[in-house]
Amino acid sequence: MIEPGSESALPGGQLDIWIAISAHVADHHRESAYEAMLDASELDHYRSLQYPEHRFDYLLSRALLRTVLSCYTGLAPEQHRFTRNESGKPKLDRESLPEGVFLPRFNLSLTDGVVVCAINRDAPLGIDVEYHGHGRSMLDVADQYFSSLEIAELKRLPALEQRAGFFRYWTLKESLIKARGEGLSVPLDSFSFRAATGVQGSTQKAKLVSMAEGFLPSEEAWSFRYFDLGSDYTVAVSMGETIDHICLRESIPLVGCVDVQDTSSLFTHAHQDALYAAFC
Ligand SMILES: CC(C)(COP(=O)(O)OP(=O)(O)OC[C@H]1O[C@@H](n2cnc3c(N)ncnc32)[C@H](O)[C@@H]1OP(=O)(O)O)[C@@H](O)C(=O)NCCC(=O)NCCS
Repeated sequence: MIEPGSESALPGGQLDIWIAISAHVADHHRESAYEAMLDASELDHYRSLQYPEHRFDYLLSRALLRTVLSCYTGLAPEQHRFTRNESGKPKLDRESLPEGVFLPRFNLSLTDGVVVCAINRDAPLGIDVEYHGHGRSMLDVADQYFSSLEIAELKRLPALEQRAGFFRYWTLKESLIKARGEGLSVPLDSFSFRAATGVQGSTQKAKLVSMAEGFLPSEEAWSFRYFDLGSDYTVAVSMGETIDHICLRESIPLVGCVDVQDTSSLFTHAHQDALYAAFC
């Protein structure tokens, strides 16, 4: 499937998205093997987390990132070393890794019970996943952060679709901020996405329809995608080149992975049965 350590494993224009779901991983009891992959600062952070479910999600995020990177670099999960830019965006640290190893770009996001990791060859990349939660309308939050264009689009949706619509715009904006890697250096309402209600279960294209001059370098051709995971999560990716091919996989680190054809089915019994059949 992937030829570790070789650039040919990941052509330009390819976007790989790896998903890990805490509830699917928990049964496999690999916590101590995951802990053994962490470096000292990751272990410190892991141990500082108070709630067991947050600890597990964080541990899973590190295990997913490190095992996924191994598929491309050919290094052992614990061998990967990272540096961060001044806004905290991590990348693989070429200085402290063996010479000649192929180092892909990555970006990571986690929320209650789900971790996602995007990988490409060498283009700016950002990913965000959000859990919808329950309760109040998000329109007052949108008023605070979204552009007037996005707010108008959101208000045009039927009331029952506004919550999912809110998370489409939120994750798209967050993924672009993460792809630029400069933190919140620009006002969130200074750029606007358009994201129609998409077909459930597959990746959809979004458009960046307005932004301040110089916000994105003119030589980069940006692509934006979003999709729902089940009915309670939304994922969005921003990538600084044309996306030719997307590959989605669910992974249980150190156990195995399966291709994902339909992102709306990930939390169904049928999908869990298929995972169980593949890995148990
Ligand atoms: C830190 C930030 C990058 C995202 O925070 P978040 O949504 O809480 O976190 P996510 O789970 O999506 O991503 C966390 C991961 O992103 C990566 N990351 C950290 N800083 C980053 C940065 N500046 N740029 C890109 N990626 C970054 C890291 O891998 C991090 O995990 P790690 O520290 O365990 O390695 C930043 O964008 C932020 O604080 N945003 C503010 C939120 C906001 O107001 N959003 C409005 C959207 S409309």
